[in-house]
Amino acid sequence: MKIEVSNEKIEKIKADCEFVIVLNKDLDHKWIKDKKDLETLSFEGVSEEVAFLPHQHRVYVGVDSLDRDEIRLALSLAINKIKKSSYKSIKIASYIKDCPFTNIKAVAEGVILGDYIFDKYKSSPEDKVERVLIISLDEYSDKVLGLESAQKAVDEAIIIANATNKAKDIVNSVPDDMTPKKLARVAKKIADSNDDIKVFVGGREFLKKEKMGAFLAVSRASEHKPQFIHLIYKPKNARKRFVFVGKGLTYDSGGLSLKPSEHMVTMKADKSGAAAVLSILEGAAKLKVPFEVHAIVGACENMIGGNAFKPDDILVAKNGTTIEVRNTDAEGRLVLADCLCYACEQKPDYLVDMATLTGACVVAVGEYTTGVMGHNSHLKHNLLKATKNSGELAATLQFNKYLKKTIKSQIADISNISNTRYGGAITAALFLDNFVEDEYKDKWMHLDIAGPAYVEKDWGYNQAGASGAGVRMVLYWLKEEERKNSKKDIHHDKKGK
Ligand code: BES
Ligand code: ZN
Ligand code: ZN
Repeated sequence: MKIEVSNEKIEKIKADCEFVIVLNKDLDHKWIKDKKDLETLSFEGVSEEVAFLPHQHRVYVGVDSLDRDEIRLALSLAINKIKKSSYKSIKIASYIKDCPFTNIKAVAEGVILGDYIFDKYKSSPEDKVERVLIISLDEYSDKVLGLESAQKAVDEAIIIANATNKAKDIVNSVPDDMTPKKLARVAKKIADSNDDIKVFVGGREFLKKEKMGAFLAVSRASEHKPQFIHLIYKPKNARKRFVFVGKGLTYDSGGLSLKPSEHMVTMKADKSGAAAVLSILEGAAKLKVPFEVHAIVGACENMIGGNAFKPDDILVAKNGTTIEVRNTDAEGRLVLADCLCYACEQKPDYLVDMATLTGACVVAVGEYTTGVMGHNSHLKHNLLKATKNSGELAATLQFNKYLKKTIKSQIADISNISNTRYGGAITAALFLDNFVEDEYKDKWMHLDIAGPAYVEKDWGYNQAGASGAGVRMVLYWLKEEERKNSKKDIHHDKKGK
């Protein structure tokens, strides 16, 4: 899908089809040419309402407000209505006067996210029509937005939405296809596409050399060898270093603490943290953010076999911490433990891990929301603010000293599960805390994306299956941090003069 902005008035733009946004039942708005037909269809113009008038080649969508997420949803519904049509070009007017950039960016994001189809495994996938969407800036173009800055805003939205769709592709791919090795290949391809990105991939020997005993144990029973993946985007004069760590379980059977079959299905999605950090890195590079960005992935399978690690084993992590295994299904935290130790060696200014870590997080906040944990309230606050603009949902879960005690072990430094069934999302994060060096504790956030990463029914503009959870949230956050940084620069310049 190509998306262009134009200074022309909507009437002057030639296109096969038109999308019309109806704001809050305002059927008398100048854009609405088919009021009678809409009334016949009982179309009122409220949120989530869509009407396709094929003879007029118009799709009407209702919104209750011009909030970004209302617009994203409306556009995803509109593009869905004509997904199977042969229309090659679509035009849309914009309510520029009310909210200049946000609303054209939301239009672009809604269309790209809504247009996503995963048909990799269909024997005869439907032909995809290459379409262009033209956004009219209308009579406000000169006054509010320059054409160039409007196109720049749209291009940014396109990068962010495409990065989200890329994460969906990775997660939706099945375990025998998206193996650790294949995931490493995805990373290498990302590095090949951009001179500012470097990649390192290490196998079992590397894990041994790095003393990553926990990661090695989890991966041991699988036919597919583990892969440690490290991507670095390093622009010139980078100001800060963001290090992202992703849980890359290409399959989680539970190991010897085997999952019941109804819980095992969908566990291809246990690599969603990895998919997110790889897509974030690629997105950040395309957005040319002025930060060094690292994506570290621990990729492996949690399987059963004669050589599988066992409940009762004691593992030694990279930082020397001994871990009593009491449940092999709590494997993500073991892989992340070693990856977090490695991540601290990169001397991050910000350290964020992303993982489908616990079912408990889904119970706590619901399946659409990411759980955000960490020691630094200011950091969490900033991320949550950016999350709101991205359209993703997130909620913070607070640490406390009582839950911290529940992961003590009698015979090792720490146990891989808690001694209470409650607060499982928090106790998992408190486990990870043991692998973040003191110096980086205040720079660290843990995002549990177990709920939103994969939902087996459509929700909003997300199709059933993978949603690319975490990608938009973090890319919006990086853009916001960039804005704050450049403001600081201006301030410094003025002071200097
Ligand atoms: N990958 C799962 C967590 C998960 C559950 C992700 C549901 C997505 C949807 C994780 O490895 C796991 O199995 N966690 C256990 C931890 C328990 C054994 C302490 C869980 O949540 O049940
Ligand atoms: Zn598990
Ligand atoms: Zn898992």
